[in-house]
Amino acid sequence: MYWWRRSYCNGYRDDKLKIIGKKFSNNDLEYIENFKKMDSLVKNLRNKSNKISLGGSTVARDIHKSRGKLFVRDRIDQLLDKGSSFMEIGLFAGYGMYSNEAPSGGIVTGIGLVSGRESMIVANDATVKGGTYYPITVKKHLRAQEIAKENNLVCIYLVDSGGANLPLQTDIFADREGFGRIFYNMSRMSAIGIPQISIVMGSSTAGGAYVPAMSDQTIIVKNKGTIFLGGPPLVKAATGEIVSDEELGGGDLHTRISGVADYLANDDYHALEIARSIVKNINYIKNPIIKSQKNIEPKYDIRELYGIVPFSLKKPYDVKEVIARIVDNSEFDEFKERYGASLITGFSYIMGYPLGIIANNGILFSESSLKGAHFIQLCEQRGIPILFLQNISGFMVGKKYEEKGIAKDGAKLVNAVANASVPKYTVIIGGSFGAGNYGMCGRAYQPKFLFTWPNSRISVMGGEQAANVLATVREGRLEKQGKKWNETERNKFKKPILSQFEKESSPYYASARLWDDGIIDPADTRKILGLAISASLNGSKESKGFGIFRM
Ligand code: COA
Repeated sequence: MYWWRRSYCNGYRDDKLKIIGKKFSNNDLEYIENFKKMDSLVKNLRNKSNKISLGGSTVARDIHKSRGKLFVRDRIDQLLDKGSSFMEIGLFAGYGMYSNEAPSGGIVTGIGLVSGRESMIVANDATVKGGTYYPITVKKHLRAQEIAKENNLVCIYLVDSGGANLPLQTDIFADREGFGRIFYNMSRMSAIGIPQISIVMGSSTAGGAYVPAMSDQTIIVKNKGTIFLGGPPLVKAATGEIVSDEELGGGDLHTRISGVADYLANDDYHALEIARSIVKNINYIKNPIIKSQKNIEPKYDIRELYGIVPFSLKKPYDVKEVIARIVDNSEFDEFKERYGASLITGFSYIMGYPLGIIANNGILFSESSLKGAHFIQLCEQRGIPILFLQNISGFMVGKKYEEKGIAKDGAKLVNAVANASVPKYTVIIGGSFGAGNYGMCGRAYQPKFLFTWPNSRISVMGGEQAANVLATVREGRLEKQGKKWNETERNKFKKPILSQFEKESSPYYASARLWDDGIIDPADTRKILGLAISASLNGSKESKGFGIFRM
């Protein structure tokens, strides 16, 4: 008995030994230099985000306002519970694309609390080309639905859209992941019991008319919202009938005669209030099967991450210093510390939620891959979600490593990541190159959420390596033809490849194309992960055969 007590006490003391991280001196020149660089990247991120959040052109916004309509982000504010965070997904969608005329891809998506329930909001921005759908708008809408479906979130559509962007129709319409997929998803989501609510606050035209028509409950704003398969110009052209917007698809018609909508709201505020009360009356209790504990803040200021992470991806640093600043009480129970040390694995908590953490501390070797696969199995068996902190230049190459079977060991890691059914989250905190992206749960491996830091770089390999590979291939061909090239010619050949990779590996390039869910300030990592983990603990639903048919 005495022995048991002693070992228990020792065990308790050991918990304190699990606190990791070290203090950095404010006089450390490298720390100061890193800090300045990350701070400027974050300021740049903030400036860009603020600009994008304004939406469409000043003219379009003035017109929108003059119609007595709220701006899209104000609508979302109004819908959410007071004090609720809004975890925006895909803010940078469309960035630098379509001559920069589609900020946020013309649609705002994200997760927040509505009447206490975590909900996915999908809201058209009518100030961006009438809220019409660019290819990236469709992709973003589908991603939002995927998140709602995977995480059993209520899905609320704030509809104000002219439907498909007609000049871009070939890239929108007919493919598997095209506009039609939105309604396919709505049907499938309905069948598994994901509540879907529409508020028609402006146009809901043509294909877009199916969004309210396929929702469980639909609200329409008087004299503002319209729903029709073909607008007045199309009707006139097709049948010669002359009819006004309101007569053809206004709120009075749809709530009194057609039954396409269920509630008539006086204005935007009223409509959003009705939506809140609909969500309040959904019979739902969140019951996560996970053993959480009290949230304890880390021992170190999270902003110190700015000084810890070097600007150059080539410079090594200890990723445990990152872990120490994002996990509860900076406690980390490391697994296999002495083996495969280029991959850090261990158990911890964020905001009280248990997590297995897998973080790169160098290149992936056979041992680190095996360790990662072993650790994933532990998490899977115990139902513990996994966080991947990705900073990886790839798997080790070379004769010695191929001989040792790096390909089959890397494959085990990839296999484990792909098949792990516990919630996975990925944050790209540095490089994301080659198969390292796969082994560390890149987008294709379906992490529940994937965020990047503004210093990150994402491409199949680094620009320098890619340019050298292509130059070596070219050199070989020239040699076969008995020709040679000098250093100047070689550099000239490499230059456009380097600049292409420089541009395309930027986190903004990636986020614009929705290869992630957003670029975040490293100092927000803990908070955002807390929201993401919470959102993904709503359980999953089984199909009930059919969804709800609007009668
Ligand atoms: N595709 C591409 N661009 C479109 C568009 C569409 N379907 N509908 C509107 N736009 C553009 C307009 O050309 C205009 O562009 P500009 O700012 O560069 O001039 C901008 O969106 C705003 O359109 P506007 O009509 O001035 O604004 P509005 O707020 O008064 O009306 C709509 C917006 C969407 C209700 C109205 O334009 C409309 O009914 N469009 C046609 C919708 C349609 O039939 N879609 C078919 C989908 S299959």
